Amino acid sequence: MVDDLPDNAQEPDRSPAGTPAENRAVDRRWRLWAAGVVVLALSLAGLLGLVVIPARQREDAGLTMSHAMRRAAGLEAGSPAVAQPLGRSTSLPVSQVSWDPQIMQILAAGNTRRGAQLAAQTCAACHGDRGLSQTNIPSLAGQSPFAIYKQLHDYRTDARVHPQMTPVAKQLSPQDLAAVAAYFAAASKEYAAIGGRDLIGEPHTERLAWEGDSRRRIPACLSCHLNGVGGPIETPVIIGQSREYMIQQMNAYASGARKNDVYGRMRDISKKLTPQEREELARYFQGTL
Ligand code: HEC
Ligand code: HEC
Repeated sequence: MVDDLPDNAQEPDRSPAGTPAENRAVDRRWRLWAAGVVVLALSLAGLLGLVVIPARQREDAGLTMSHAMRRAAGLEAGSPAVAQPLGRSTSLPVSQVSWDPQIMQILAAGNTRRGAQLAAQTCAACHGDRGLSQTNIPSLAGQSPFAIYKQLHDYRTDARVHPQMTPVAKQLSPQDLAAVAAYFAAASKEYAAIGGRDLIGEPHTERLAWEGDSRRRIPACLSCHLNGVGGPIETPVIIGQSREYMIQQMNAYASGARKNDVYGRMRDISKKLTPQEREELARYFQGTL
């Protein structure tokens, strides 16, 4: 009977796995491994949460790296929406324009007395009599009322910032902005406006304008910017616009200084263009006015 007992019944100190000293040695090895894995996982999580993700988000939010890291660590408030002095301020991350029925009605009403009055009193001095500017200030004639209103609303809400336009847009109500947008859009029907000239340029520039560059995932400019082709509702007409203004805007999109474009469409495109391509495209589209 005694012979049928398992070995360890006679030797209580000895487990099937080995002596206690052997077991402790194995345990220690595993404890070291486990501790190592936990430390590694924590460091990776820290790196990801405090460095990699803030570095990615930093660009779109217009933050410095240290600011982004402090926000990620919870040492600073989460929103970059801090009031900033005009001139050296960066704009808020996104456009807040909304197309409510009342605004749509005003935009559809076209040339009203209120719109014409506001345009003459407040805008004509800079943008030209009927919105056809002879300087680097953008022309408004030829734009859709949606394009004009969208930008005015963005200046009003600090989504786009400019020392001359921001105060103008803030002093008017959204209804007045819609009325003046409708006026300038309608004025272009009566007078020669931007948007209707032949385009002549280098083959590379022409290709970018009409076909884009699929290798670099740049869509054709004119798939959105040609009058009435069905780009986003707020797409401005760029054919005939001032060359310097267009270069300025593409550079501002590329650097992120201007970021009121919905879904970052123009930031994305402008970043992919070389500075020389931006200049050539602006020359290609510029007005001859
Ligand atoms: C003191 C000169 C000045 C006055 C007055 C002024 N603007 Fe402007 N406007 C500018 C400048 C300069 C820009 C370009 C700003 C920029 O680069 O962001 C601009 C830009 C705009 C834009 C954006 C155009 C685009 O293509 O993106 C719109 C829309 C606009 N103005 C409408 C108006 C309206 C409407 C009024 C009158 C209620 C007005 N502006 C009064 C100087 C002026
Ligand atoms: C997917 C549609 C789309 C494509 C493609 C596109 N754009 Fe735009 N673009 C827009 C929209 C929408 C805006 C207005 C964004 C905003 O609200 O700020 C804009 C704005 C601009 C402006 C500023 C105009 C102003 O009056 O302020 C310039 C300049 C411009 N685009 C140039 C180009 C060029 C050059 C290309 C081709 C390389 C191009 N875009 C391709 C949709 C497009």
